[in-house]
Amino acid sequence: MSRYNPRDYDTLTLLATRPGNDTWPRDVAAMPAAIRPAFAVIAAVASNGVIGIDNRLPWRLPDDLKRFRALTSGHAVIMGRRTWESLPRALPDRQNIVVTRTPGYLADGAETARSLVDALSRASRPAPTFCIGGGALYRDALPLADTLYITAIDRAFTGDATFPPLDRDQWCEVEREPHTLRGPEGFDYAFVTFRRVGNDLAFSTTLRVNKGDNDV
Ligand SMILES: NC(=O)c1ccc[n+]([C@@H]2O[C@H](COP(=O)([O-])OP(=O)(O)OC[C@H]3O[C@@H](n4cnc5c(N)ncnc54)[C@H](OP(=O)(O)O)[C@@H]3O)[C@@H](O)[C@H]2O)c1
Repeated sequence: MSRYNPRDYDTLTLLATRPGNDTWPRDVAAMPAAIRPAFAVIAAVASNGVIGIDNRLPWRLPDDLKRFRALTSGHAVIMGRRTWESLPRALPDRQNIVVTRTPGYLADGAETARSLVDALSRASRPAPTFCIGGGALYRDALPLADTLYITAIDRAFTGDATFPPLDRDQWCEVEREPHTLRGPEGFDYAFVTFRRVGNDLAFSTTLRVNKGDNDV
């Protein structure tokens, strides 16, 4: 696998270029964070870190699903094989990429990749690309992500899948939108956005380029 050489690429060209062509570096992880294509993690996390139980979500939170759909539609979504198997079908209006070590794994309506980096290099929708879970893949994704969209649930749940601990020195909270789920099973929760500390340049550049794309 070739290493990324900063002299080979111009930042704006790289961000404006759709992946899949010859200029797209295969070794995404080797790219400096400042010019790596925008990559976001999206997760709903209980106060004790739980994200799932028996390969399903431990809660019913319709507004979170709506927000998930709104944020990820039109983009590539990368998920672990178990999360894929928890879904009824491929997520519509998105490029579905399933990460698995099983050769020949068939996922109807999705592409497969053998690692997270392989999946990132296959993503061919406009940035950002999203990692949508589950626990195993979040652990791989955190070191590469620029943004985290976390639904922080203010209640502990029993579960068997967890979100990795966040190094708060690496992540800066940039937005928080508090909500309450009413009813006997209700709880407070917040939509929280974190940005990687020191990665502002990549964000403003990416947003500028995307805006230009939309103008055409
Ligand atoms: N709360 C949330 O926001 C949220 C979001 C998504 C999922 N979830 C929950 O999370 C749970 C599933 O998470 P999980 O940790 O059990 O499974 P997962 O991360 O969805 O999938 C694990 C599988 O993905 C493949 N995989 C993971 N890392 C890989 C790597 N580095 N290289 C190659 N393949 C890799 C392997 O597939 P093979 O075994 O096929 O090789 C592995 O067994 C479910 O309960 C689900 O409902 C919650």
